[in-house]
Amino acid sequence: MDDHKGNPPAQWVYEVEDLTGTERLAGALARLAQPGTVIALDGDLGAGKTAFSQLFAKHLGVKDTVNSPTFTLIKEYEGRLPFYHMDVYRLSLDEADELGLDEYFYGNGVTLVEWASLIEELLPQDVLRIYVETVSASGRRMHINGQGATYEAWVSALRENGVS
Ligand SMILES: Nc1ncnc2c1ncn2[C@@H]1O[C@H](COP(=O)(O)OP(=O)(O)O)[C@@H](O)[C@H]1O
Ligand SMILES: [Mg+2]
Repeated sequence: MDDHKGNPPAQWVYEVEDLTGTERLAGALARLAQPGTVIALDGDLGAGKTAFSQLFAKHLGVKDTVNSPTFTLIKEYEGRLPFYHMDVYRLSLDEADELGLDEYFYGNGVTLVEWASLIEELLPQDVLRIYVETVSASGRRMHINGQGATYEAWVSALRENGVS
């Protein structure tokens, strides 16, 4: 039913009407974030992976401007926790491997990875996946899957209690 591009059905499909909906989700997840949190973002160009990341950073307490990491690949910011923002679109798997991403994934901060499915093999086993589907100019369908006990619990809690 929610089988998107061959992935298993999402545990939760969160419908967003505009950026304020995206911000509610980003804010709720930023509050849950802890050292070692990894969020894998996928979705077509212009879907809103960077927009989501910027709103997440804002709610994590990052004061600096968060730019798209398309050309910088990895950017670090300071918030309530360190915030690591990656875009792996331009990386080959070998190049990504050489960057030593585990230092980030298993570090003290929170990592958001745009185009994460391109480095599937390098992602931690436990990860929160968000597939952003564009449905209209500002409407988005967020397909959310928690992999591992912690993220499964997050998704259940958010699905049941809402994200306001
Ligand atoms: N509900 C929404 N969620 C996220 N982005 C949205 C939404 N509605 C409109 N947008 C716009 O869509 C664009 C998404 O671009 P961007 O975040 O750079 O995409 P990506 O990083 O996935 O390529 C931005 O201009 C953003 O303002
Ligand atoms: Mg982007």
